[in-house]
Amino acid sequence: MREGIAQAVRRADYAAPAYWIRSVELTFDLDPVRTIVASRMAVVRNAAGTGGPLRLHGEDLEPLRVLANGQSVSFRSEAGELVIDNPPEGDFTLEIRNTCAPEKNTQLSGLYTSGGGFFTQCEAEGFRRITYFLDRPDVMAVYTVTLRASKSRYPVLLSNGNLVEQGDLDNGRHFAKWHDPFPKPSYLFALVAADLVAREQHIRTRSGKDHLLQVWVRRGDLDKTEHAMNSLIASVVWDEARFRLPLDLDRFMIVAVGDFNMGAMENKGLNIFNTKYVLAHPATATDEDYAAIESVVGHEYFHNWTGNRITCRDWFQLSLKEGLTVFRDQEFSQDMSGSATARAVKRIADVHTLRELQFPEDAGSMAHPVRPDEYVEINNFYTATVYEKGAEVVRMMQTLVGRDGFAKGMSLYFERHDGQAVTCDDFAQAIADANPGSELARTLPQFKRWYAQAGTPRVTARGRYDAPTRTYTLALEQACAPSHGQADKQPYVIPVAMGLLSRDGQPMALRLEDEPPATATERVLVLEEARSFYTFVDVDSEPVPSLLRHFSAPVTLVDGLHDADLLVLLAHDPDAFNRWEAGQRLALQRLLTAIRNEAPLQLDAAFVGAMRDVLRHPTLDAAFKAQVLTPPSETYIAEQLESVDPQRIHAAREAMVLQLAQALHGDWEWAWEAHQVAGPYTSAPEPAGRRALANLALAMLCLDATARGDVLWQGRAYQRFKDAANMTDREGALWALLASHSEMADLALPRFHDMFRGDALVLDKWFALQASAPERDGRVFARVKALLKHPDFTLHNPNRARSLVRSLCGDNPAAFHRADAAGYVFWSERVIELDAFNPQLASRIARVMDRWAQLAEPYRSAAREAIARVAARTDLSNDVREVVTRALET
Ligand code: BES
Ligand code: ZN
Repeated sequence: MREGIAQAVRRADYAAPAYWIRSVELTFDLDPVRTIVASRMAVVRNAAGTGGPLRLHGEDLEPLRVLANGQSVSFRSEAGELVIDNPPEGDFTLEIRNTCAPEKNTQLSGLYTSGGGFFTQCEAEGFRRITYFLDRPDVMAVYTVTLRASKSRYPVLLSNGNLVEQGDLDNGRHFAKWHDPFPKPSYLFALVAADLVAREQHIRTRSGKDHLLQVWVRRGDLDKTEHAMNSLIASVVWDEARFRLPLDLDRFMIVAVGDFNMGAMENKGLNIFNTKYVLAHPATATDEDYAAIESVVGHEYFHNWTGNRITCRDWFQLSLKEGLTVFRDQEFSQDMSGSATARAVKRIADVHTLRELQFPEDAGSMAHPVRPDEYVEINNFYTATVYEKGAEVVRMMQTLVGRDGFAKGMSLYFERHDGQAVTCDDFAQAIADANPGSELARTLPQFKRWYAQAGTPRVTARGRYDAPTRTYTLALEQACAPSHGQADKQPYVIPVAMGLLSRDGQPMALRLEDEPPATATERVLVLEEARSFYTFVDVDSEPVPSLLRHFSAPVTLVDGLHDADLLVLLAHDPDAFNRWEAGQRLALQRLLTAIRNEAPLQLDAAFVGAMRDVLRHPTLDAAFKAQVLTPPSETYIAEQLESVDPQRIHAAREAMVLQLAQALHGDWEWAWEAHQVAGPYTSAPEPAGRRALANLALAMLCLDATARGDVLWQGRAYQRFKDAANMTDREGALWALLASHSEMADLALPRFHDMFRGDALVLDKWFALQASAPERDGRVFARVKALLKHPDFTLHNPNRARSLVRSLCGDNPAAFHRADAAGYVFWSERVIELDAFNPQLASRIARVMDRWAQLAEPYRSAAREAIARVAARTDLSNDVREVVTRALET
């Protein structure tokens, strides 16, 4: 690995490979210390290429022998490559034998061990850590894989595709042979050899074909697999119904593994999952966990078409599969959620993620376009921009061509490109070509700037009502700040879904001048110029504009609306997303005023009254109420400020929450009482929403009680903590104690640990809760430092490392950004420690400092110093090196 500073890879340098590999037979003699891999490849010269040496990727491998057409052939090892200078003329067979060391593989990329079994992770460039290969996504081969291993220790042997043969061997070993009929890039290869058990389900799909679905887990975990299996079945049904995309394999497997860098991986027919996104039981998983499992199972399943059947030509095109598949999983979860408000609740959650993660990224040191132009380490570009903003770009396409038009576009995409490795251009072209009359087809080259330009565009709106002519003119302007290597931004194509409300909250018919009379009360304006005017006619009174409904484009909207307008939207907007947004804006304005003026925050009756009206509303969903009554996060507040003092933000937000707790005391009591859920647990949106609101109420009541020196509600929370029938309620009660700085938290925490000492995923929660609790007097930070030495803590398990280190450094600004810089020292120590054995994980944690330049003093200088200290190390991985170098460049 560490061989000096790596060169950047550039998108413009793409060239097709000189050779193709059409098929490969792999044989594994699995041994934790020394696994022997035998590979037999059918190599074909690329007729369009120039021939020359055959260069195969390889990393941390020991070559044993290389044969071409059965003859030994000379080769040399270069940095990360095995080079055959004189391969045979024409097509040939290449046989390679090499070893690798799974047990020593602490990076969790390639072939590694976890919980006594063997697992693989090959995306993006992990296959080269298993055997020598053309490890790039445009080289697609048919795989036949034989696994050999000790039968007692590894009774289950899995790989992609169909099981064709299995049996016993000498010395207590056995074998299994798998064949995957679909040509695939190496990053989709997978194998598993372990002591596992499966939940199985046979299904018959619309087309009348039978399939076997399996969810493989460790022996004790079978009772936690029902939800994952149900999610998988729902995913199969949904993709066939919504996009006519059927399951193309006889067998589809999900395997759970406890040590995993990411969430899950879409290997063809053999998805490998972090246990966190498979295992669920009401006693151990929260409503949020259930929802996340459904969405991740869907996501990886949907990759089977968007990623696997059609894959990426090169890694710059990553959003081709990830942006599109995130869009698909978001749509899936919305469709599964049922009611219109439940859909809005999911949309709000997705936009929340976008603003919390992607907007800061777009403004920070790692800013890059959805389709990046260069990278040093590809693992650093599995980002919120490629994923979440990429999904928004696909969503805008759907908005511009309509839902049916988008489905037609998808069909054309598969008609044209099934079995190929393609680019983001190919995708956009197919959607546009299937919808010739659409706004997307008309504006395609300009629309594609969404792929090319980094940064979050800012849309400024100004409305002017003219009573004598009964017209309302809306001026929309767009601009985007310069970013790394992109000084001038060209205008985007921005779909602005909108409506107008009368001041008493009635939707108005929308008719632009020169148009026939209209009845529609919502429409999409397509902003293409730097500035455009839209004049609405027949407008009887001065309207309140409701712009960017459902968050129709990933932009920052500046509309200059006053409290009075926002209160109308909060009370009446037919678009639930904008209703929520109006509430957030009311809260944000108050927070920003207090923070900017260094004045104590004092909530006004209008705001409190509006919040009470939402909380007490007779028809709104509980889940939606909980979202409205949660003020913007500290991270989101920080993004609105030019200079960030995390302590001041924290103080202002805490003051707002406390005042809401106090002013609405009676309402919170009502909310707690009225939203208890009886009967057996289900994770459906309705009861989950009730639990979310009840838990928020409990936290508010405890907070108010602490401030009054009353312990009644803390006693109730502790009681709930002890008696809770599910993890959502138990964790909610523990959180209420932690967030109200109650001494009873110190009783509950050890009890919680005792109850779940054997359950790794619940212990992760135990660490994470303590690390993300609201800071007061440095106690949270001190606790985290002590927890580093807890016998259950280890940096070597990624979930555990994230539960403590990421929760503190990434999710708890007030505990992390300390005037004494101790948080930054903690960060630099953990990054360096982690980087020595797991660069991917280290690099992700390193990125919490992306926005250091925005900090106020003394934080800013101290943060820079800490980053410089990490950067000064000579033994950094490329992963961390790229992140800290870019941070120091800002
Ligand atoms: N293909 C990725 C997994 C991956 C990411 C492998 C980075 C190697 C490097 C997978 O489809 C994915 O996107 N997983 C997400 C979860 C998903 C629901 C967004 C993840 O692992 O975070
Ligand atoms: Zn994905």
